Amino acid sequence: MKVVLFDIESHFNAAVMEEAMDLVRETNEYDLTQPEEGFFHFISRQPDYHVEMAFKADGTVSAKCQCTAFKRTKQCKHALAALLMLRDHILRSRRTKSKSKHENLLLDDVLKKMTVTELRSFISIHAQSHSAFRAEILANYLHLIKKPDYHHLLLDMTPMDKFGTIKLNRNNLKTVRNIIATLLRQAQQLLKEKALSETFQILEATLHHLYRLSIKVPQFQEQLSTELRLALRIFDALCHQSMAPRLQQSAFVLSMDISGREGYTFLKGTKPLLLSIEPFILEEKSRHAAFQLAEKKAVLDSRQQLPWATIVMRWMRLWKVRSTSKPLKAVLNRLMPDILQELSRQGDYEDVIYSLQSVQTDTYEKTLLRGMLQAGLRAARQTGDRELVSKLSYELSLSYLDTDAWDILLETDHESAHRVLRVVKEYYAPGTDDIADQLLLRGWNATGHKDELLERLSAIGDMSLLMRYDDQLKTSHRLQLEDVYATHIYATREAYGGVIARQKLSNIFGHLKSIDLSAGVAEKLKLMDKKNKGGTGPQAAEIRGFVFDLDGVIVDTAVHHFQSWKKILKELGADITEEDDHHTRGASRMESLEYLLNRYSIVLTQEEKEMWAAKKNEVYLEAIELITPRDLLPGALAFLIDTRKAGLKLALGSASKNARGVLKKLAIEERFDAILDGNDAKESKPHPEIFTKACEALKLDPAEVVVFEDAAKGVQAALAAGCHAVGLGDPEALKEADIIISGLDQTTPTLIIEQLS
Ligand code: BG6
Ligand code: MG
Repeated sequence: MKVVLFDIESHFNAAVMEEAMDLVRETNEYDLTQPEEGFFHFISRQPDYHVEMAFKADGTVSAKCQCTAFKRTKQCKHALAALLMLRDHILRSRRTKSKSKHENLLLDDVLKKMTVTELRSFISIHAQSHSAFRAEILANYLHLIKKPDYHHLLLDMTPMDKFGTIKLNRNNLKTVRNIIATLLRQAQQLLKEKALSETFQILEATLHHLYRLSIKVPQFQEQLSTELRLALRIFDALCHQSMAPRLQQSAFVLSMDISGREGYTFLKGTKPLLLSIEPFILEEKSRHAAFQLAEKKAVLDSRQQLPWATIVMRWMRLWKVRSTSKPLKAVLNRLMPDILQELSRQGDYEDVIYSLQSVQTDTYEKTLLRGMLQAGLRAARQTGDRELVSKLSYELSLSYLDTDAWDILLETDHESAHRVLRVVKEYYAPGTDDIADQLLLRGWNATGHKDELLERLSAIGDMSLLMRYDDQLKTSHRLQLEDVYATHIYATREAYGGVIARQKLSNIFGHLKSIDLSAGVAEKLKLMDKKNKGGTGPQAAEIRGFVFDLDGVIVDTAVHHFQSWKKILKELGADITEEDDHHTRGASRMESLEYLLNRYSIVLTQEEKEMWAAKKNEVYLEAIELITPRDLLPGALAFLIDTRKAGLKLALGSASKNARGVLKKLAIEERFDAILDGNDAKESKPHPEIFTKACEALKLDPAEVVVFEDAAKGVQAALAAGCHAVGLGDPEALKEADIIISGLDQTTPTLIIEQLS
């Protein structure tokens, strides 16, 4: 017989392999010699057989046995067993080139010949130090002996009290994990060497043990999950090998046993045991048992209902099972949206389609149903079911305006894709539903319906959409496109005036330049301007500058002015009130003093008045001595910066003779184009002088200027100067202002201009 040595399994069926493996296990005493390059003699004494093998450079080996079976059929279990052992020998010698490895091999050979009792006593003698150490050695060598007892080893390592309660702590958990990791390493190696039954023995013990631990000592579940994942992976790989029926049966029993336990859970991201063995659950009886188990769990296991229900659905399709159980039906119906997602995630597309067809879809809430249909569409595409693809993508694009589904529909069923566009167009007027608009624009764009595309775009009037699609239109519909843009730009200018319109339109201008439409649009705008000139009377002036009062607008010094007056008037025998604050706010120093003296009937000479005014200033200067930029009112600095950014001019218009000093302390002096303070105006607010002068300094018409004031007197002064006025503070006191806000942090320059226009 002649075989490829490293692929022996594919030459023989499972039953023959199993027989040969049994013989390998029985063969304890043998000699494998190499009389010359490429020739091997295999002589086994117990049982007695003799095989000659010739190894060719192409990887094939021919084997000849002396037995009668071989003489008759040109193959026999002896020859096969010898080949398996030769392969093992070659693999080992390849792996063990170094001296120490060679020694290990010898040790392996020695150990292989021992019984478990001998091995145990050997280890007890030579590895006395620690039982964990002994267990580690056992884990490494146990597979070499006949009938290794992994269960025993694992139980030995798991401390238990006399009532059978597992006593695991951090320390011995580490040992248990080490032992299991060693065993799993061995299992991986054995699987590589195609020692399937040996691999299974290790997995059976470790899986049992790991699940026992994770149920009994759930606090360590997390740590043990690393080993459990590995064990499950190896188990799945094992089930992909051509396992002998007997081994398949054992794997089935193991999987059913573990899965059926109370407290058994699916580990996230791993393949459930029952799905690993699914390919060889062939008999009616086993299928029945497996299905029943899954059904029971799907109904009762409240924690992991979804994975079980998913398996149930899968087996219903795969094995054509029907269940009459009402509770199961209820669970499946309830979980169906999630089951579909799960199946779809796992790539089980046939199951997705089957499941979708098995439920009454119109009983689900709209968003859930959408997800279900999307999963179905994905599955239908994967399985190449064109009819279903067309049906689902039609439903999704029509009922949910799903653009991705529409794209798919266009690929599969042109006619229906067009029909969807026609229906959606009829149903949704432009601009009434963003999603419908998007679907239509995308649809007409994809199908080259440019007239429809442009018509909808101009009806919606959203320039960002127009910019997205105009590339398609700029050759065929250039003039119309220029018209749409020009009309929009014209309307924006009319509505907002210069600064804001420029801001709003800046990206459109950039875009028009990039697609070479600016010249055409500019031309159209000129024409529109000409046409509309002279028609509508005087236009509202464009805002070009802001003038700010200082105390109480930019910085919180108004309170210091008031407190200083309070102190001075106290010395003069009067107790001033909040009400007086309204009268002194915004008024000049002398004006304020006159008012207070008058109010409290205090008579002073001019000389005395000047003395007390100077005294008030001293108190005030002392109070503001330590102010810094941190004392700027909230939002003030940002507002000044934004004003400049918006292209406006800035001036200060304060009644205070201390204004420049305060600006310096606040480090904002440089931010103003002009500074007008108490030294610049003879008249006190509400006289407009200070603001008229500020407008002159900015070279602006008062109608182009907005004044920001915290004092009623200031607002009156601004309005008297012909400026706009924004009042900051008490709405009652400032009611004459055009706009009232609580502080500069509540607005932006653009917003103010927008409100005023
Ligand atoms: C205004 C204050 O800004 O300046 C008033 O609102 C104050 O309260 C006025 O009287 C004059 O200030 P100064 O610093 O010149 O005394
Ligand atoms: Mg003020």
